[in-house]
Amino acid sequence: TIIKYVDAENNVTEVEAETGESIMSLAVNNMVDGIVGECGGAQACATCHCYLDNKYAKHFSEMSEMEEAMLESAPQRTETSRLSCQLMLKDDTPDIEVSLPSSQY
Ligand code: FES
Repeated sequence: TIIKYVDAENNVTEVEAETGESIMSLAVNNMVDGIVGECGGAQACATCHCYLDNKYAKHFSEMSEMEEAMLESAPQRTETSRLSCQLMLKDDTPDIEVSLPSSQY
């Protein structure tokens, strides 16, 4: 499984997914620019904000109330916004593409 990160300038970074990682931790471990993950995945910072196209949404758990509340404080929030620390990779996750906001603050 390949996870593609597309930043606001359309630079693409492809990373081989690892089961048990989240889209946030995979990005941080592979030094993908554009995902910070300051709180380490506790839904407490929103610096892992990404955009997940609706066609991929079914491969991940639904947004929790806590995630929803945290995203409210994220700049550049859109309808497809997610916290990438809540997007967990499983054995059967297909190739996924996420887009990143131009800033995490
Ligand atoms: Fe902090 Fe996702 S890493 S909310």
